[in-house]
Amino acid sequence: MSRNDHQPAEVAATSMDLTEHNLQQLKALFPGVFTEGKIDFDALKAELGEQVETANERYQFTWAGKEQAKRIATTPTLGTLRPAPDESVNFDSTENLYIEGDNLEVLKLLQKSYFNQVKMIYIDPPYNTGKDFVYKDDFKDNLANYQRLTGQRDEEGNPLFTNSDSAGRYHSNWLNMMYPRLKLARNLLRDDGVIFISIDDNEVHNLRKICDEIFGEGNFVANIVWQKKTSPDARMNMSAAHDNIVCFAKKIGSLSFNHFPFTEERRRSYSNPDNDPRGDWASVDITGQTGRAPQSQFYEITTPSGVSMRPPEGRCWAMSETTFLELVQDHRIWFGEKGENRPRLKKFLSEAEGTRPWTWWDNKFAGHNQEASQEIKAIFDDNLLFDNPKPVKLMQRIIQVATNEGDLVLDFFSGSGTTAQAIYEQNSYDNQCRNFILVQLPEPLGKKGNDFKAGAVGAKLGYATIAEIGKERIRRAAKKIQEENPEAKADFGFKVLKLDTSNIKKWQPDFDNLEQDLLGAVDNILPDRTSHDLLYEVLIKYGLPLTLPVEKIEVAGHTLYNVASGSLIACFDEGVTLDCIQAIIALSTEDAPVLRVVFRDSSFADDIVKTNAIQRFKQAGIEDVLSI
Ligand SMILES: C[S@@+](CC[C@H](N)C(=O)[O-])C[C@H]1O[C@@H](n2cnc3c(N)ncnc32)[C@H](O)[C@@H]1O
Repeated sequence: MSRNDHQPAEVAATSMDLTEHNLQQLKALFPGVFTEGKIDFDALKAELGEQVETANERYQFTWAGKEQAKRIATTPTLGTLRPAPDESVNFDSTENLYIEGDNLEVLKLLQKSYFNQVKMIYIDPPYNTGKDFVYKDDFKDNLANYQRLTGQRDEEGNPLFTNSDSAGRYHSNWLNMMYPRLKLARNLLRDDGVIFISIDDNEVHNLRKICDEIFGEGNFVANIVWQKKTSPDARMNMSAAHDNIVCFAKKIGSLSFNHFPFTEERRRSYSNPDNDPRGDWASVDITGQTGRAPQSQFYEITTPSGVSMRPPEGRCWAMSETTFLELVQDHRIWFGEKGENRPRLKKFLSEAEGTRPWTWWDNKFAGHNQEASQEIKAIFDDNLLFDNPKPVKLMQRIIQVATNEGDLVLDFFSGSGTTAQAIYEQNSYDNQCRNFILVQLPEPLGKKGNDFKAGAVGAKLGYATIAEIGKERIRRAAKKIQEENPEAKADFGFKVLKLDTSNIKKWQPDFDNLEQDLLGAVDNILPDRTSHDLLYEVLIKYGLPLTLPVEKIEVAGHTLYNVASGSLIACFDEGVTLDCIQAIIALSTEDAPVLRVVFRDSSFADDIVKTNAIQRFKQAGIEDVLSI
């Protein structure tokens, strides 16, 4: 009997291997270019014919550290996400996630579970103004680096990595931070997905170039100009009134934007003077430019009061006479109260699609910076000034144009959590259900610098990090929106998960000995970790969504986690006997078959139980049995 017949296989030790994924895609396209598992570049060139660039001088964009940034994107992480139910709202039922951690590691951990799942990504990264904190990745041990960075500040209270514009590699540092994150983010987008990136003029040109490279220049959608200020800054020669919001599609041909809902003002311009059963309408002109209009568009019209008219001088009618008469029949032509005016076409509010989006978003339409600060103050009822929050209105505009019922939104530089509030607001407004994943570094609040006020007031209110402020803001905003909209059925919860090192000792860098360690009787779980922690690590490594419903049940004296009615059953207890195995098998029904079972390697009472367990699962048709 081979080992596989009587031993559970091991759950994959790391997050998704992106290099392997790329190789598989290439293999599917060009199977002939692989020799003994390696790529024959000459064969690949031959497949690509004339399209291979061979000139030394070519159009390209590069900077110090680009190759390493590319490698960082494909290096799997050794971390995990640990659930924090006490900090969550409706932990067991919500489909929203708030993840505390460095977004590079978190994006890697999300690759399997959310590959091609996200409809819209919004990010508001550091703008690289010369004064802001730019996270510096460490190729060798990014998790230890994370723990170091989120715990430290210098004696002055400044964050340790302020990317000063006087330092060398000022732009390179920022690009090295952005490149791997954008690359990983793209994998999570659906084919009809889209990313919006806020940025000012310090880095917009560089951002556009790396986005061209990562998303493809053909997938550029727009550079939205958002008017963030209400008046010029008297201290400057020419101050910036706007931010850019750079927008790229995953696949431009699959992208379809919504129109914006009409404003109240626009709605009020609709009325129903003729009591049309189709409701309120507004009228539009039906004349057009003559240009190459055919003679048939210059016909004579007689109004209901008997006035005959032709199109005004230099104009024609915008439709043929046949169409016009059909519209008259359908009561869609308006000749004025007395039936004597030049005809106009009735456009019904019920049939209107809203306002077509364009790239100019003024502050009346999408809010402004001051409004955003006021929103934070209103929620915390204090003097809390936050580091460049965005207004809820701006986020709602992006959500309106790019998302619909059931869509998932990701913001991995979430700051004060404006995106979550905007989703709650928009869901209550249009009764749709969109969910979010927010990621935020537990960046310590400083005593100096940009976040001075947040630091001082945050400390007074009892918050030590930006993530703590973000979570509290989301809790308070949810409560307020629910109070204002008691009928709203939206999901106002969020599940908090926190980045940490793997729960499993042996899922650390030494992969050469992994097999042996897993087979050994040693307990390979870190001492401070719970079964709940292990469950989430298994979901991540398996690539299951982290908001699947989990039922905790007791059988044969053991605790089981039943994820999504049998999609996965996990048992991390010690001393598991065949009674427990039989009880798991009994959970499997035709409607809800048990698909996978996971144990701890040390779960089984002894090796005989382990061997028999695998056999019994096999007989019951449950083939996927793994251990950690
Ligand atoms: C400009 S703020 C975002 C503000 C947000 N849009 C709002 O409305 O509040 C950028 C945030 O990204 C966070 N950040 C920076 N580097 C990060 C990283 N590597 N992982 C996760 N968050 C990070 C910072 O702590 C900061 O709060």
